[in-house]
Amino acid sequence: MKNRMAQLIQSDGRCLFLPIDHGYFQGPTRKLEKPGETIKPLLPYCDAIFVTRGVLRSSVEPDSAKPTILRVSGGTSMVGKDLANEGITTSMEEAIRLNVAAIGISIFVGSDYEHESLLNLSKLVDEGEKYGIPVMAVTAVGKELDKRDARYLALCSRIAAELGARVVKTYWCEGFEKITSGCPVPVVMAGGPQVDTEREVFDFVHDGIQKGAVGVNLGRNVWQNDFPVAMIRALRAIIHENATPKEAQELYDSVKKAQ
Ligand code: 5RP
Repeated sequence: MKNRMAQLIQSDGRCLFLPIDHGYFQGPTRKLEKPGETIKPLLPYCDAIFVTRGVLRSSVEPDSAKPTILRVSGGTSMVGKDLANEGITTSMEEAIRLNVAAIGISIFVGSDYEHESLLNLSKLVDEGEKYGIPVMAVTAVGKELDKRDARYLALCSRIAAELGARVVKTYWCEGFEKITSGCPVPVVMAGGPQVDTEREVFDFVHDGIQKGAVGVNLGRNVWQNDFPVAMIRALRAIIHENATPKEAQELYDSVKKAQ
């Protein structure tokens, strides 16, 4: 377990995960139509990828040494009845065979499927602990993006930790310290849909780190950007080199200019 956690959270206590799991309910998401091409230039700058087994098999070279967080929940789609009605999609044997650093599952607190998703998390934690595989819980909001406030996300994050998640992935929001101060395991931030400017991303990631997040699990705001390499390098500077948002913007601009 310690060895796997060390593959995820680096020796400075921080991490940059690159999620490319969106297709499991969104289909061919913009700029992730060919995940292998999307991630190729980005892999050197992330600490781990978050991916389903299908995309891992089809789009990631097996000799890649990049740690894998395997998305193991799903079974719903954007056009189905309820995104919250997820089950476990991948067995622990498969996760072990794929030599993953962790597995990830969404929980849907407050939804009609709260109970099922929380018991799915508990079941995975039971199995993961047996084999030394950490579980990352994703505090999902489905289509209800306005649910992303500190009170709700603090509740979800704490519940995930109580049930045994080793890492919690939640959204950045105003008052982010409320989430980290009530959650006894490392918290990473997702970004949600792409925002208008790079600077907004640098500002919220920097704010979240100051308020106790250990890093990010940031997808669309990286690979949907017109200059994804500039974006991931600037984020890396905030996370691993304590760069300010202004310094991150300068790095972004210089990498963009050189391309
Ligand atoms: C999708 C996920 C993503 O991994 C997560 O939302 C992070 O990606 P983004 O920054 O694009 O929101 O769990 O189900």
